[in-house]
Amino acid sequence: MTHLLDAAHFIEDAAALAVRRAPAEDTAPAVVFDDAGKVFTGARGEPAVALANVRLNVRRGEIFGIIGRSGAGKSTLLRLVNGLEKPTSGAVRVNGVSVGELDERGLVTLRRRIGMVFQHFNLLSAKTVHGNIALPLRIAGVPKAAIEKKVAALLELVGLSAKRDAYPASLSGGQKQRVGIARALVHDPDILLCDEATSALDPETTQSILALLRDINRRLGLTIVLITHEMEVIREVCDTVAVIEQGAVVETGPVWRVFGAPQHDATRALLRTLVHDLPDDLAARLKPARDDALPHGATDVLLDVRYTGADGHAPDLAALSSALALDGGRVRLVHGGIDRIQGHAQGRLVVAAQLSNSEREPGALASRVAALIERARRHADYVEVLGYV
Ligand SMILES: Nc1ncnc2c1ncn2[C@@H]1O[C@H](COP(=O)(O)OP(=O)(O)OP(=O)(O)O)[C@@H](O)[C@H]1O
Ligand SMILES: [Mg+2]
Repeated sequence: MTHLLDAAHFIEDAAALAVRRAPAEDTAPAVVFDDAGKVFTGARGEPAVALANVRLNVRRGEIFGIIGRSGAGKSTLLRLVNGLEKPTSGAVRVNGVSVGELDERGLVTLRRRIGMVFQHFNLLSAKTVHGNIALPLRIAGVPKAAIEKKVAALLELVGLSAKRDAYPASLSGGQKQRVGIARALVHDPDILLCDEATSALDPETTQSILALLRDINRRLGLTIVLITHEMEVIREVCDTVAVIEQGAVVETGPVWRVFGAPQHDATRALLRTLVHDLPDDLAARLKPARDDALPHGATDVLLDVRYTGADGHAPDLAALSSALALDGGRVRLVHGGIDRIQGHAQGRLVVAAQLSNSEREPGALASRVAALIERARRHADYVEVLGYV
């Protein structure tokens, strides 16, 4: 504890100033991973590569999401930002300062600029809400009156003023996380790191915590880096997303682009939870074409119509259905849904288009369906035949 108290008196030293202020202009990234790598030593002394050659820029004021399978290296990546881990190759720079090169005092100063929120809240059960939030300020030697003012303002910000004197055991998960967020903000950081901050919460509570994070991001101009296994969280609040697979960044970009047209298998696997999958009963009724003709009993072609948000295609149902209405046949919307991500319409519609009797003749089906797809593609980013019903 002593070195923490000591450090409080050195807040104005060179490292502190360098960390606190952006060196060049404000458009410089808040965090830069410059070919950063992390190799741990395994149980039998063997090297274990957790991260390799990570190159990422986190822009000031954005909400940056990190996704990846368990063990991919997400937490390690986050821990490099506040110096809980040091890179074994390359560098991680926060506000222009190389974190790996900071000494203890520099690290203490850095961590004041970076708040951290945890999945399991990490609150002290013997202290009240007020006590938990006040603790880092007391450790830093902040005068009592200033502490009272700060804690009151933070309780107001996270909507917990009424719970000031409650103990963590009497709080709901969402309330505990609000305390965790308030505590992370005591030193007015400019970066907030969240490692699975909503993973222990139910969907409704998750929404309210996300709303709070977005509010803090906008109101305080805070840069937020968050890890989550919930794709909805990324879609809901993030500007940019990076996908980590076995310690490497395999894909990164604006959320609408990565989610609308994922390039890497790892990304597609992670996004599967968001895809409107074909319901089982419908999938069971699908028949393949036979002898280039409609299978017996089928009347419609089932099409998978996707919108990635990239080419400005918006789901125009009238245009789509007139493109698909062969000889005045009916066109039905069978399944699917559209989301809006950062202003881009994205999603998948499953559409059944009625075929005419001529497609019952062998050799007639493929060319008719190809023409249908060709016309539908003018109104969507991707159209594919799923089968016949
Ligand atoms: N202190 C450590 N010593 C040795 N190996 C470690 C250490 N910390 C992490 N690792 C290893 O580094 C890899 C990445 O771990 P990390 O915790 O960053 O994964 P993660 O993506 O956060 O996973 P999860 O989604 O399960 O939290 C794993 O193989 C892990 O076993
Ligand atoms: Mg982790």
